[in-house]
Amino acid sequence: MKIAVYPGSFDPVTLGHMDVIVRSSELFDRVYVCAMVNAGKNPMFTTQQRFELLCAATAELPNVTAELWTGLLADYARSRGARWLVKGTRSGTDFDAEFAMAQINRSLDAQLDTLLLPARAELLHLSSSMVREMIKYKRPLEPCMPGPAIALMKGWEMNG
Ligand code: PNS
Repeated sequence: MKIAVYPGSFDPVTLGHMDVIVRSSELFDRVYVCAMVNAGKNPMFTTQQRFELLCAATAELPNVTAELWTGLLADYARSRGARWLVKGTRSGTDFDAEFAMAQINRSLDAQLDTLLLPARAELLHLSSSMVREMIKYKRPLEPCMPGPAIALMKGWEMNG
């Protein structure tokens, strides 16, 4: 069974992430999409909220499981029996950062390889930071965020 982990901050999950999730779900038997902690970032949403948004966004994908993990990615991948990490890349800058992280993860677990999926051209401009701006300035989110995640977030807003 080919098992992959797609890790990230997902602050929040975007349609760009969804493209990588769907493509991964076609390549692997099972994909664990995991909301994690990036020590270099100060997120808008808590890890629990980022996880819940991921759950809503992936609920209809039968071989995709959303999870939350606050430890090392290599440990998480091992615990799920995954030998593959999947990451999306939109630019050479993304590639350089992901290339470095792939080396670190491989040094932590020699069995762990990283697959980089280039973003589709029409999604290149999408990022979580752009979505956060749209949320902050109350602009429509449908062009950049999955519908079920928008609905969940609106529910949080209504409940204070
Ligand atoms: O979406 P991001 O912020 O680019 O994702 C980065 C993330 C969360 C995958 C990375 O920071 C991570 O792997 N965090 C878990 C801790 C860890 O394993 N660090 C060592 C690998 S660089």
